[in-house]
Amino acid sequence: MDRIYLDNAATSWPKPESVYSAIDNAQRIIGAPAGRGGYQQVVEALRLIEQTRGLIARFINAPDRRTIAFTFNGTDSLSTALFGLLRSGDHVVTSVVEHNSVLRPLHHLESESKITTSYVDCNEAGTFDENAVIEAIEPRTRLVCLNHVSNVTGSIQPIQNIKRRILDLGREDIVFLVDAAQSMGHIPIDIKMLGCDILAAPGHKAIMGPLGTGILYVSEEIAHRISPLRYGGTGTDGSVEIQPTKIPDKFESGNLNVPGIAGINAGIRYLTSEEGNTKHEIWKSNSKTLLDGLLSIDGATLQGNATMQNRIGVFSISIPGFDCHEASHILDDVASVQTRAGLHCAPLLHRALNTEGQGGTIRLSVGLFNTEQQIEVAIKAITQLAQAGK
Ligand SMILES: Cc1ncc(COP(=O)(O)O)c(C=O)c1O
Repeated sequence: MDRIYLDNAATSWPKPESVYSAIDNAQRIIGAPAGRGGYQQVVEALRLIEQTRGLIARFINAPDRRTIAFTFNGTDSLSTALFGLLRSGDHVVTSVVEHNSVLRPLHHLESESKITTSYVDCNEAGTFDENAVIEAIEPRTRLVCLNHVSNVTGSIQPIQNIKRRILDLGREDIVFLVDAAQSMGHIPIDIKMLGCDILAAPGHKAIMGPLGTGILYVSEEIAHRISPLRYGGTGTDGSVEIQPTKIPDKFESGNLNVPGIAGINAGIRYLTSEEGNTKHEIWKSNSKTLLDGLLSIDGATLQGNATMQNRIGVFSISIPGFDCHEASHILDDVASVQTRAGLHCAPLLHRALNTEGQGGTIRLSVGLFNTEQQIEVAIKAITQLAQAGK
């Protein structure tokens, strides 16, 4: 049986053919480090990197390609921002919706008594309240760090007014960081409208690059406040011992992942092409079909919004009578429907949704290349499982 891959929130699969070709070309034909040396392929690798920064900057309406740094994944982007920015005595406002790649760095800094953190609660749909975020701000708050789309419920979070409201409080000193791991590539992101100072995202989810890639946008105004996480060669200013202070070099020690970045380049080109737009419409329609199907199953409980409004095609369900891991295994065994079971690295959200005690949920996340027929097979398999659980 062909696999029905519904774990796109973990990493997207398959990638567009052009992404595979671009990675292959970078490995076989370019075959050189970016910006280290002067021969033709080095220059070509560097040109590709700079062009990809430009593509990403345009994609998220960032003011300049130099505000885009490449990292290893979403977690690496977030760690770079959090460990680089926070100092002793700082207070952070975040939410229970966050992924462990936000929660664990904050917990670590808190356990060393360096920072204090306020976690804003969420409602039944897994959405936090904009007012609660603003009310949690204290005199020592240095950072507001928020999820854009939940990787558990698929809920789009109300972050569009946060920066404006922070500024209305006269708090120009507070940095606004957005975790766009599940939004970038799925819903439009406009840095200028959001007003976010830092945006962290993987390259390997909805923007279709390969695993091992990540993106970090840092505004030029606040970049000087963030220390690098890693120190080393950057291919620039080689004669001096100090780490470059200008972005993006300061965050990019060591050779860049040229094949991976070539994949992001092709991924973004694909998303902005006519074919990519068509696939996006199919993704939306398949997401709705899956939502309606899940809601119609007697015996399955869906977390998050029951309409496609303010959500994307990431769905968490429970099937009474089955442990979520067992259910996920059965779906794979009987119908090759590949889902993910557990807490999805968001323990506080499961606590808030009352799904922690049952070990989490079964997550189904739709990708650009799922077909309607695959979605129907998945709905049928879950329906049969729910009946068996009664
Ligand atoms: C909301 C959210 N933030 C951060 C991450 C971390 O991204 P990565 O797996 O690329 O480190 C993920 C990954 O699932 C995520 O869903």
